[in-house]
Amino acid sequence: MSGPSTVIDNIGLLITNDAQFEVGATGQLRDAWVVLIDGFIEAVGTGQAPITDQRINAAGRCVMPGFVDSHSHLVFAGDRSDEFAARMAGRAYEAGGIRTTVAATRAATDDELLTRASWLTDEANRSGTTTIEIKSGYGLTAGHEARILRVAHHVTDETTFLGAHVVPPEFDGRVDEYVALVCGEMLAECAPHARWVDAFCERGAFDADQCRAVLQAGRDAGLGLRLHANQLGNGPGVQLAVELGCASADHCTYLSDDDVAALATSDTVATFLPATDFSTRQPYPNARRLLDAGGTVALASNCNPGSSYTTSMPFCIALAVRDMNMTIDEAIWAATAGGATALRRVDIGIVATGARADLVVLNTANPIEFVYRPGIPAIAATIIDGQTLWPAVDS
Ligand code: NIG
Repeated sequence: MSGPSTVIDNIGLLITNDAQFEVGATGQLRDAWVVLIDGFIEAVGTGQAPITDQRINAAGRCVMPGFVDSHSHLVFAGDRSDEFAARMAGRAYEAGGIRTTVAATRAATDDELLTRASWLTDEANRSGTTTIEIKSGYGLTAGHEARILRVAHHVTDETTFLGAHVVPPEFDGRVDEYVALVCGEMLAECAPHARWVDAFCERGAFDADQCRAVLQAGRDAGLGLRLHANQLGNGPGVQLAVELGCASADHCTYLSDDDVAALATSDTVATFLPATDFSTRQPYPNARRLLDAGGTVALASNCNPGSSYTTSMPFCIALAVRDMNMTIDEAIWAATAGGATALRRVDIGIVATGARADLVVLNTANPIEFVYRPGIPAIAATIIDGQTLWPAVDS
């Protein structure tokens, strides 16, 4: 027997991302309604809405799929605001700052880590995020990495083992020994708590061969593959991600013509993280090159205390449209269906019968306001699994 049904009606503009509605890039419907039952979408339509047990009146606002944030590092301790302030005064971003967070995270209790991760997840929900991926990478021992993944599991099923984030201080000068640890004991302890494996392919972190070894070991352990690629400069990361069939190559701030061609002819999603480029004063990538070549693009927050301390997907959308040559429709698709594709999910990022009832009601009728009115509270309601978590809508 099914539970109570709920209709969201009076929707001025419904963004579905459903290809059967060939209106705009995001499958838009006017004067629409959506019926939810038992955490899933039961029906979608226009005109007269069906009678249900409960009603949410969208009052002419825009309704869309919840944001799918496919890249974050939400489990950490400590503070790096001084590092950010120094950067704003002209200092360059260096991946070495990660070690500061590793020291603080190792010293924190499980409760402290979970309290912060829950607070940040709640913050993300309030700005419209309904699915969030979380990486380890601030523990860098088998025990600490597994602990971070266990904490992450309290707030999401999308967990990623990132033991190959940087080399911890106790392994200085012994990178290959550290990679062997990551591929061996650390992976064995972490794989039961992870869906994905990732590595940071960058000068100052791990080279292509080291990342290949980590990802291949992760694949052998049953994990899906993702890769931090081309964040701080051109390098082999994007080509490696495509070679290994990674679900996603993340950052992609520096893309050569060959990188664009490789991504465009592959299933690997290019996940852009524009809040990182904002916070580290890197140049923004030109997403137009990749979109015009036929590549698939996602947008994600990369929330972490060093390079991008925000959970706001609306902020990422604003940057992508303002600075990366994406249209508003492309940016909204990338922040919803694009993120779902980067996580190889077909049940989220879309408003269609059978999909999860993960939706947001905007405060406005027109999603261009993410960019036109940046920084304002854009979300009236966030609905996850059919439950309204962040309610500000008349009913
Ligand atoms: O994605 N690139 C590597 N990892 C994070 C940086 C984390 C940090 O600086 O603490 C990132 O930007």
